[in-house]
Amino acid sequence: MFEIAPSLLSADFTRLDEEIRAVKEGGATVLHVDVMDGHFVPNITIGLPVVKSLRKATDMIIDCHLMITEPSRYAVQFVEAGADMVSVHVEADVHLQRTLTAIREAGAKAGVAINPGTPVSLLEEVLSFSDFILLMSVNPGFGGQSFIETSYDKLRKLRSAITERGLQTRIEIDGGIDASNVAKVVEAGAEIIVAGSAVFGAGTPAESVKEMIDAATVWV
Ligand code: DX5
Ligand code: ZN
Repeated sequence: MFEIAPSLLSADFTRLDEEIRAVKEGGATVLHVDVMDGHFVPNITIGLPVVKSLRKATDMIIDCHLMITEPSRYAVQFVEAGADMVSVHVEADVHLQRTLTAIREAGAKAGVAINPGTPVSLLEEVLSFSDFILLMSVNPGFGGQSFIETSYDKLRKLRSAITERGLQTRIEIDGGIDASNVAKVVEAGAEIIVAGSAVFGAGTPAESVKEMIDAATVWV
């Protein structure tokens, strides 16, 4: 089974409530929230107050992708603000196991995000402490970038590592995904599919989500 997780980064921030209702109507189950601090990535986006408001506005799964340095300082606060899933970057946290455990203890699913240039082997020791891995298929920081083609192999490698260990860790993929490549990422092992510009870019979010679900359904 796969789920579509629209990234709010590409939504119209003045009409978030409407945008959220539309993606839900289209069949999306997860809301992907990109938190950027201007240090770990060059861009600055949204933070805790917005997540708190989102929590009041929707019963969808709120998935916070922390693209920030020292994520351990904030990860639990995002759970308290209402996030159901929180991911921190392997490149940003030197005490990853501790942060993942803290996220789980706070009551959310704990995830590790990994940049395109970082090898999957670096995740070996934290797989069993992770509910999901967020594999970046673009370098984080901006929406609307092109999918990095080597990500298919990386997805397969990660899928094998999880299966070999008999784990239930889920795989989320993020960056450059649209109706033209969604089937291929699902086939390669992705279960949660983040899409920003492909969902909100055309101004018809409900239809765009439906289109992606239809395009990927061939693999279910
Ligand atoms: C990039 C973010 C993504 C981004 C995806 O740093 O992590 O979630 O919003 O946008 P698209 O789908 O447009 O590549
Ligand atoms: Zn993201």
